Amino acid sequence: MRSFLRETDFSFDEAREVFAIADRYKKVRGRLNVIQDQSWGLIFFKKSTRTRLSFQTGVFELGGNPLVLEADDLQIARGETIEDTAKVMGRYLHGLVIRAYGHEVVEEFKKFSGLPVINALTDALHPCQSYTDIFTMMEYFGKGTPTLEAIKGKKFVFYGDTACNMAYSLALAGGMFGMEVVLSGPEQFRPTAELDKFFKEGGVAPTWTFEPDPKKAAKNADVLYTDVWVSMGKEAESAERVKIMTPYQVNGELFKNAHDGAIFMHCLPAHAGMEVSAEVLRSSKSVIFDEAENRLHTQKAIITGLVKF
Ligand code: CP
Ligand code: NVA
Repeated sequence: MRSFLRETDFSFDEAREVFAIADRYKKVRGRLNVIQDQSWGLIFFKKSTRTRLSFQTGVFELGGNPLVLEADDLQIARGETIEDTAKVMGRYLHGLVIRAYGHEVVEEFKKFSGLPVINALTDALHPCQSYTDIFTMMEYFGKGTPTLEAIKGKKFVFYGDTACNMAYSLALAGGMFGMEVVLSGPEQFRPTAELDKFFKEGGVAPTWTFEPDPKKAAKNADVLYTDVWVSMGKEAESAERVKIMTPYQVNGELFKNAHDGAIFMHCLPAHAGMEVSAEVLRSSKSVIFDEAENRLHTQKAIITGLVKF
């Protein structure tokens, strides 16, 4: 039984196949029989727009029955353990997609449900988004023909909270697929040893670097990426985070240091005027809605990989 909790849960060659499947799914939408007559539970402990809709649509298009479950509506909210919940779900369902706080929650669901489990974001990682972003860059730099060769050696810079799930996932995915990854943010939000542990456990060399100077980081960059400064669950630290991360806003000034053809990426939701200027967010360099669309195709391909490989 395969699960996808981290980027490294697919081998390099399997990931290449996942991206090829995503490309095919993007070209032809429609109902397939990949998980025909299967019911998949989509459990949300945190808010979501893109992940919820793209998985619900994706499971349907693969022939399955998506059951969207708010964790607050389950007995978990009244103290039932993850172990018992997972064991019960294992008796009804065929797969799980889970958005949680602690990463251990998705690991526990995997251990006790006996089902394929997909990580739909934890405090530590958001692998569905990073695979989607890799696919989006493959398309962009491959000029419409997505290949891993097209992104090899490209300089990718992530700005802001470099200790958040997106920074970790993009460092892992970028490392796995041969990109030059630079994380740029305040020292207080530098990645911890947890990131290196993910590299070690995944058998990938940690090639990312940290650069506290945002302009230096942008030099000759091909991609400038940012995410919210206040991730879900960190709301109590909002004022401090906004103050300290303001120098890391991705704006026109910062773009002057990057390559001419550099693009802007953001997993969304975005806050114009905070982590990104309104001008950059809405510019022709911005591929944010391609990223959002590609969640659907990439996640359908991830599910296909889990049931077929
Ligand atoms: N990017 C992303 O995961 O968006 P949602 O939080 O809306 O699902
Ligand atoms: N870092 C953000 C990502 C949202 C998709 C968060 O965890 O809130």
